Amino acid sequence: MAQRATPEGRGFLDLFCGAGGISWGWSRAGFRPVASLDSDVPALRSHEWNFGDAHGLTLKRDLSTFTPQELGGLLPASDRTPFAVVGGPPCQGWSRAGRGKIRSIRGVATELLNDPRNQLYRRFLEYVEHFEAPVCVMENVPGMLSIEGVNIAQAVAKNIEDLGYTCTYQVVNARWFGVPQDRERLIFLGVRRGSGFDFDITRIRSFAGRFRRRLGLGSGTTVRDAIADLPPIEHGASEDPMIYHRKVGRPSGYARLMRQGCNPKQVTDHVTRVHNEQDLEAFSTMSEGMLYVDLDARFKRYRDDIFKDKYRRLYWERPSWTVTAHLAKDGYSHIHPGQSRTLSIREAARLQSFPDDFRFFGNIGDRFRQIGNAVPPLMAWGIAEYIRCHGLGRDLLHGHEIGRELKAV
Ligand SMILES: C[S@@+](CC[C@H](N)C(=O)[O-])C[C@H]1O[C@@H](n2cnc3c(N)ncnc32)[C@H](O)[C@@H]1O
Repeated sequence: MAQRATPEGRGFLDLFCGAGGISWGWSRAGFRPVASLDSDVPALRSHEWNFGDAHGLTLKRDLSTFTPQELGGLLPASDRTPFAVVGGPPCQGWSRAGRGKIRSIRGVATELLNDPRNQLYRRFLEYVEHFEAPVCVMENVPGMLSIEGVNIAQAVAKNIEDLGYTCTYQVVNARWFGVPQDRERLIFLGVRRGSGFDFDITRIRSFAGRFRRRLGLGSGTTVRDAIADLPPIEHGASEDPMIYHRKVGRPSGYARLMRQGCNPKQVTDHVTRVHNEQDLEAFSTMSEGMLYVDLDARFKRYRDDIFKDKYRRLYWERPSWTVTAHLAKDGYSHIHPGQSRTLSIREAARLQSFPDDFRFFGNIGDRFRQIGNAVPPLMAWGIAEYIRCHGLGRDLLHGHEIGRELKAV
């Protein structure tokens, strides 16, 4: 029988927390980040600003060396039994495990543990093992389902199962939760055997639909829904905060959700990069969806056989393609659909479903990287909500007056 308890106050550990896409989602579902760890200073400043020490520890630690025993020593006794360990360890060693002939999953699982480049993955598992949380959730890339013919995901699930969990995994698209972006992630959900919980991640899709509808969002949130209400700006815009001019017409339900609870008069981080004259002219010739390869030859600075989609203009009426950490280098992959410039920080944050009161720290590249790296907060909320409903016997969005709150914005 499923254990019954309120999630409020139930703690989770957020490993490799970044700015806090996962932290936001889990907090919104009523869980509490007892400790969030990362090694990146600007990301941690964002995390601390948005969550604050009052909610738990935000720690700058290199997880290749910092052990779960050391973390246990820093936590108050009441936080040493978290409900969940969550995170997405960066791993370079997956590809190597896929090389050569197909071997037994047990063999691949052992290889993953032994590959020195998978040190952070091993560390994640050590935290899971040490804290014996009822639930663990790991996020990674769908490419793991088949690397040179080997299902690495199955081997990862085996490693988690060997720690005393029942582990399921599923490719999850952020779009299912109302995020205006096609972004697939592979989610592993481990449920500790003997914990009394009985749920798995393979049923998340229909739940995500109910979650999205309950938030008042349609089935395909578009770029227009996501950013059309934001004030028009030029490339190089640097005013921060900026006055949020209410445009004629009502912002979309998604935009209202993003603005919920923030200062109605201002918008923050609505700043962009500066472009040179040639790029500005190139952008002005691009129609929606147009790629670098289709640009007039006079605008091309890179080889178009290698960099076919180096530049790409978003469609107004579709979700965005994946927002990546590459935006930290340049923003050409996401050109604004109606203005001659790349996206502002706030627009990229909207495409990732970071609400408008979420602040980002660091230089412009740091901020784009934190956004591109994140699990979309709305997706993280949906997954945490699923666990809350199925594990703790709560109704969907119990305690959230979503409809009423949105009407008030
Ligand atoms: C994909 S991002 C995590 C995003 C985060 N889960 C979110 O939702 O916002 C991976 C994070 O791992 C961190 N990282 C990489 N190597 C690390 C290490 N050795 N120790 C601690 N953190 C590390 C990076 O700084 C980055 O923030």
